[in-house]
Amino acid sequence: MLSRLCIIGVGLIGGSIARAAKRQGLCRSIVGYGRVSDEKNLQMAKRLGVIDDYFLELAEAVQGADCVVIATPVASVESIFEQLKPLWSDTVIYTDVGSTKGSVVLAAERIFGVVPANFVPAHPIAGAEQSGVEVSVENLFVNKRLIITPLNQTLPQAVNKIQSFWERMGALVSVMDVNHHDAVLAATSHLPHVLAFALVDMLGHKDEQSEIFKYAAGGFKDFTRIASSDPTMWQDICTANKNEIIPLIEQLKGELDKIQRLLEHNDSRQLFETFTYARNARQRFLDQFEFTMSKSITFQVQPGGKLQGEARVPGDKSMSHRSIMLGSLANGVTHVKGFLEAEDALATLQAFRDMGVEIEGPVNGELTIHGVGKQGLKAPKNDLYLGNSGTSMRLLSGLLAGQSFNSVLTGDKSLSGRPMKRVTEPLSEMGADIKTTETGTAPLQITGRAGQLNGIDYAMPMASAQVKSCLLLAGMYAQGVTHVTEPAPTRDHTERMLSGFNYPVQQNGNKVSITAEGSLTAADIDVPSDISSAAFFLVGASIAPGSDLLLRHVGINPTRTGVIDILRLMGANIEVLNERTVGGEPVADLHVVYSPLKGIDIPEHLVPLAIDEFPVLFVAAACAQGQTRLFGAEELRVKECDRIQVMADGLQVLGVDASSTEDGMIIQGGSIGGGEVISHGDHRIAMSFSIAGLRAQAPITIHDCENVNTSFPEFRDLAKRLGLDLVCKED
Ligand code: S3P
Repeated sequence: MLSRLCIIGVGLIGGSIARAAKRQGLCRSIVGYGRVSDEKNLQMAKRLGVIDDYFLELAEAVQGADCVVIATPVASVESIFEQLKPLWSDTVIYTDVGSTKGSVVLAAERIFGVVPANFVPAHPIAGAEQSGVEVSVENLFVNKRLIITPLNQTLPQAVNKIQSFWERMGALVSVMDVNHHDAVLAATSHLPHVLAFALVDMLGHKDEQSEIFKYAAGGFKDFTRIASSDPTMWQDICTANKNEIIPLIEQLKGELDKIQRLLEHNDSRQLFETFTYARNARQRFLDQFEFTMSKSITFQVQPGGKLQGEARVPGDKSMSHRSIMLGSLANGVTHVKGFLEAEDALATLQAFRDMGVEIEGPVNGELTIHGVGKQGLKAPKNDLYLGNSGTSMRLLSGLLAGQSFNSVLTGDKSLSGRPMKRVTEPLSEMGADIKTTETGTAPLQITGRAGQLNGIDYAMPMASAQVKSCLLLAGMYAQGVTHVTEPAPTRDHTERMLSGFNYPVQQNGNKVSITAEGSLTAADIDVPSDISSAAFFLVGASIAPGSDLLLRHVGINPTRTGVIDILRLMGANIEVLNERTVGGEPVADLHVVYSPLKGIDIPEHLVPLAIDEFPVLFVAAACAQGQTRLFGAEELRVKECDRIQVMADGLQVLGVDASSTEDGMIIQGGSIGGGEVISHGDHRIAMSFSIAGLRAQAPITIHDCENVNTSFPEFRDLAKRLGLDLVCKED
């Protein structure tokens, strides 16, 4: 704990530091310093309780302080150093909050000769368009980045103290060197501000009558929000960091020239590619840093309602992944219809673009993949970021193990916690070289071992289509035969699609075999609707009296229909209509009408065939009469979250008698109350608790629903259209 903290410049940032430090009990007293002209502001800071006292004399302000924070605009830092020089004490730690670090370090050098070892340059990446102590808040730094840029001579103890000071205020601290900081900030903060100011400046002068502003749409407001920032501050920052900003302005001019040329030449395809790349890159960037950057989404469901009407849910996720993978490895052009435009499948799509495959779309679920052939993938320039998608990571690990280049696979927080040894162990038996973390999780560092993999005969210890598919893809690059035996049937989309692309795969009972002999020939793919997404509505309509729903064009591959079998055993009224085969996969329309459900013991052989549907089946069980018991489903503990624990916890919050077991769940059917539950970032948990609202007696609030976008971005709109009273709140 500090005894006295002195803040030089008590505005938005200085005031927020004071509030946060007080709140966290980081110091006994806080004093502010400002010039005479700043006295009114300091008086207000004192009146608001932000600081305990203030001084207009620097010597008095720093007297007895053990930490001094310079929170004035960067242009004034040099004069502050000058005033501090005669008062400088070796027992005090000094730090600053300037947005440019090179200029602050230069200013210190000019005043002190050498930057003092007890000065720790720092920069909190937080702020607002408004300034002044009256807009300061105690949580300004919570989950925001803070960068410390120590110099060689900076005392490690001082760095540690400043680091823990900021961490206690909720900031996420990184350490980097001064030049790196300034280059990064020039690109991510300073250039966007220059652009926003420039656009408004140009449009403002062009249109004195404010015609444009009058009709300005949301895009203009979003893009120019930061042009409302303090011009003095930004003039200071831009001047201080101009050496980094000017080259970026040059690059941006080049980019604008490129877009101008594309427009002049009517090159709509390249324009589309450029915009698509940018959109996807932005999305990936938000995903990767989601916990600091992106919105948090909460679903609020009002109790009751029924589901009625007709719908076609989005494309099958498993097949969408595989269509990109095999289409990319094929010779020729593959057209895909019904592709799932959701984050997981888009992560796979981006990974293949990063490996040099030209893919057009998706536009309304349609894609054109210009296959590069089995040996045609190129080394990605960066790590392949796979978001939340276990399927992408596990299947790609097999495919990339036998390439002639190295690769690194990364994912979001949930994916980075999921077990990868289940694929890396058999792959290493085949001769692959893949490093995981000590705990067997991503990032996966793959050293390509082209021509050095050997087939194995592998009996999977768990029923996993991802492991099976991973080994089959590796087997396409291995010498000899790769055999995979599964302990129970799992989804066979890889095998079916390989055959559709004319690649030989042998199926012998529960053993599937593949070799490197063969090539893939491009084939058109029509992806049916995902039965895993349909499942929410199958359950919803089954539990809500008065429901009558038709779900069109749903994939009913027998390795996926466990949910229909289980619901029917519970008494659901589901008709399978208009069965047909589309592109080698069975498809049907599903008609479901409300019917009272009863509890059952779920047959174990159905577990792998309904593996993704248990969260919503638990909701069905909660509405059924009697007890439902599930055994043999320990795999649920290693999905996007521990689906057994998280569902048991949530159901209990809603007043349901649900108890988790090691490998399943026991649920006593009855009524569902209301309350607040957490989805733990798992899309299927979020949607399952939303469906529970149909039979709840009070509203249900579901936190942490951003990841619904990984598999079913349309869920909330579709659910509302069909009769669920759901609103979505974004923070
Ligand atoms: C999938 C297989 C299943 C499933 C996942 C998708 C696939 O995972 O849960 O959502 O596309 O192969 P496991 O293979 O881990 O059971």
